[in-house]
Amino acid sequence: MDKEIQWWWPLALNETLCGEPLAVHLLGQPLVLWRNAQGQPVLMVDRCPHRGARLSQGRIREQAIECPYHGWRFDEQGSCRTIPSSPDFQPPASFNVCRYPVMERHGLIWGALGEAIFAPPTLHDLPSRRLLYGPFDIATSAPRAVENFLDTAHFSYVHTDWLGDSEHTQVPHYEVSHTTDGRPVIEALKAWQPNAYAGATQGGCVTYRYEVLSPYSALLRKHSDNCSLLDTYVIWTCPMSEDTCRLWFAQYTNDTTSTDDQLRNFQVSIFSQDRPVLESQVPKQLPISHGELHCAADRMSVAYRRYLKQTGVRVGVC
Ligand code: FES
Ligand SMILES: [Fe+2]
Repeated sequence: MDKEIQWWWPLALNETLCGEPLAVHLLGQPLVLWRNAQGQPVLMVDRCPHRGARLSQGRIREQAIECPYHGWRFDEQGSCRTIPSSPDFQPPASFNVCRYPVMERHGLIWGALGEAIFAPPTLHDLPSRRLLYGPFDIATSAPRAVENFLDTAHFSYVHTDWLGDSEHTQVPHYEVSHTTDGRPVIEALKAWQPNAYAGATQGGCVTYRYEVLSPYSALLRKHSDNCSLLDTYVIWTCPMSEDTCRLWFAQYTNDTTSTDDQLRNFQVSIFSQDRPVLESQVPKQLPISHGELHCAADRMSVAYRRYLKQTGVRVGVC
């Protein structure tokens, strides 16, 4: 079985799934999310078995999702319960819609296309204030987006006067270590940043800690050297297809003075600088064996690519 089938994938923010069905894409497959009467999410193939209409364009009625075309209703098990045009007919199991495992964690709804054995990553020691940004739909593969999140050498160019400048282009030497299950980590990497935070009034040194959480997610902890600000950012990515992804950023911060909008605007500004470069990269899949060049500052990217190779994932890599 493909590794990708065995993962839990982030699909939507919890709060965006309310009373209406929500269409999502995962690994090229259209899926629909909705909530049952208890408020639990339900994940199904977004295709009515009758004539192939999108269930996500339907509505929720009497604890079932109702197809917009002829009103067939499917319950949270995927069983066809009602066929309004033939009300005396008892639909057999062959009329069911395929449903998939689904759960909520870290403020997101996660789904799996098979029996998932790799749980969503756990997070530890986080500052208590959490903000979630996204979804951002990007015309590149999920591993390209994760590698960009792990890369600091682009700060001076892509984030000029924000996270870097022309006086500080050199990436200091850093070591990559590995967790016991083989995920790459940088324990400490120092950087000088002109505008390191929402609300920063002057430049300063920050210390980063990076950790790859899974092939498709990573975490960074950013600590200001001259104030007590501590931020943890997580990138959660979902490969909608081989070369497109949907991603979210989570920020966990001890910043109690900036407003939610200030924090969001900062992160959205940073990512809007990344996007055009990310979408320009060729190939869109991340080359994990050969085809691109590395320098000493790319140690983490090299470790991430090696990890992807060892993990045996196939989506988004070439
Ligand atoms: S296509 Fe769904 S009820 Fe006919
Ligand atoms: Fe960036």
